[in-house]
Amino acid sequence: MYSKIVGTGRYLPEKVLTNFDMEKLVDTTDQWIEERTGIRQRHVAAENETTSDLAFHAAKNAMEAAGVSNTDVDLIIVATTTPDRVFPSTACLLQDKLDIHGCPAFDIQAVCTGFVYAMSIADKFIKSGESKCALVVGAETLSRILDWNDRGTCVLFGDGAGAVVLKPSEEPGILSTHIHADGAYNDLLNVSAGVSDRTQLFNDGAAYIQMKGNEVFKMAVNTLGSIVDETLAANKMQKSDIDWLVPHQANIRIIKATAKKLKMPMDHVVTTVDKHGNTSAASIPLAFDVAIRDGRIKPGETVMMEAFGGGFTWGAVLFQY
Ligand code: UT7
Repeated sequence: MYSKIVGTGRYLPEKVLTNFDMEKLVDTTDQWIEERTGIRQRHVAAENETTSDLAFHAAKNAMEAAGVSNTDVDLIIVATTTPDRVFPSTACLLQDKLDIHGCPAFDIQAVCTGFVYAMSIADKFIKSGESKCALVVGAETLSRILDWNDRGTCVLFGDGAGAVVLKPSEEPGILSTHIHADGAYNDLLNVSAGVSDRTQLFNDGAAYIQMKGNEVFKMAVNTLGSIVDETLAANKMQKSDIDWLVPHQANIRIIKATAKKLKMPMDHVVTTVDKHGNTSAASIPLAFDVAIRDGRIKPGETVMMEAFGGGFTWGAVLFQY
């Protein structure tokens, strides 16, 4: 028994901030951002728009594509680092918006690897027979945890949501999932305060994303190289067996380094970082939906998703679409 993706969806908030808009906010240039990251623009949620709103639109979109209704869905997992509230979970708020009642609904927090973690968990629910129709969403309003005075971080991130519907199938779907973490690196990429720890607040009493970009960059490149190897070895596959790479969209230079490791030509790597920026847990399902809807990824093709993020966390999903 496999878990198979039967529908995908996405949603991006209407407001777009280009690199030229960022030039007006902080001491940066379009050229620096484009050259160092590949980002040209990012979407930003409206003031009254929350993560569960973004998740709702992406989920509806995916459910429509899958031809499933609210009574079919029996599991909801939302990967997010920017939940609407402390509680209820964003998954419960989404469940209410979708008019779904009774099925398990919970959030996963693994920062940029959140969607990979969520897929790994949903796959186990499907394979064990506990779920027949799982909704897996990655959704973020990172604009709410950005220090808009810090040019080292505020130019990098964006808001958005992507979703997939998974169903059991006898035809190959998810072949393997691999998830990892090492909390020893929590200092390199974090939000320094939250609910229980209030010791490292910024001057305005809030807390925002802070990152030692260069160190994270090096770790990301090395770690993604090894997760790709681990995934291929687990499936006794060669690099040439992979048709598509759908990576987490943090930085085009990181994406290119992983593609090179896989000997994957860039026209078989789905990139949306130019248009979306880094949308953390939303970036992979957003990119995947783009490549499904424009017809690039076709049924039967083999796809690898991979991610690296705060924690550190990292992981990969290998599947036949
Ligand atoms: O998604 C989760 C994982 N996150 C990532 O994978 C992100 C990993 N890191 C990166 O993508 C890159 O490290 C960055 C894009 C964040 C930074 O690129 P970099 O090539 O590593 O630059 P850097 O941090 O070494 O900074 C180089 C210079 C510095 O100036 P000095 O000290 O050399 O004078 C920075 O102050 O670039 C400066 N700088 C900027 N200049 C213009 C940093 N941010 C900006 C900016 N505009 N926005």
